[in-house]
Amino acid sequence: MKIVLLGAPGSGKGTQGEKLVAHYGIPKISTGDALRAAVKEGTELGKKAKAAMDAGQLVANEIVIGIVEERLGQPDARKGFILDGFPRNTAQAEVLDGMLTRLGSPGIDRAVHLHVSDEEIVKRLLDRAIKEGRDDDKEDVIRKRIEVYNAETRPLLDYYAAQGKVVTLEGIGSVDEIFGSIVKVLG
Ligand code: AP5
Ligand code: MG
Repeated sequence: MKIVLLGAPGSGKGTQGEKLVAHYGIPKISTGDALRAAVKEGTELGKKAKAAMDAGQLVANEIVIGIVEERLGQPDARKGFILDGFPRNTAQAEVLDGMLTRLGSPGIDRAVHLHVSDEEIVKRLLDRAIKEGRDDDKEDVIRKRIEVYNAETRPLLDYYAAQGKVVTLEGIGSVDEIFGSIVKVLG
């Protein structure tokens, strides 16, 4: 099972991704988590990514593509994976399709799009700012992330619709209800 989780910041990609890991026994690959870990460790990659992340902008394609390529090549990703936060623009989606072709795979099975209103997103992320203090959970940066999502990532809905792979689900409600609706479409 090869799944891409699509959705605006705060739509629940990370939360639902964790539950899918437990349910299907396949790894989750989150470029955001990998980048935050690199920033925290102070690696060269982290230093390159930090300014863009703090501004709510996308990190350079070659950086995130490198992360995903390395991770998808590991044995535990052979039988499937959940991608959280990648791809985020058409160039990344095309590279992903190319990588999977080289690995002998017909591509992803489904792109699951979690739809959540902007007001709910801002509310959730300001709430998380208090609990976790993530550097990009500040109101102006949250609004920038939504803008970048609309401009750069939303077109992927058409990209995957053209492959007949996209499914849009309402991302508002309890975490378990939403998880139930995802598992129902994935089977
Ligand atoms: P990334 O880490 O991917 O962040 P994001 O897309 O902005 O999304 P979030 O992680 O904030 O939200 P989520 O959808 O995972 O929701 P979550 O489950 O956490 O990216 C961060 C940055 O890294 C980017 O801005 C960019 O700079 C860079 N980056 C990453 N990938 C990149 C790429 N491919 N290319 C270029 N740059 C890249 O939920 C959010 C909150 O809501 C949580 O507190 C959660 O507890 C709560 N919540 C979840 N579900 C519910 C629910 N049903 N009801 C109420 N609350 C809920
Ligand atoms: Mg996340």
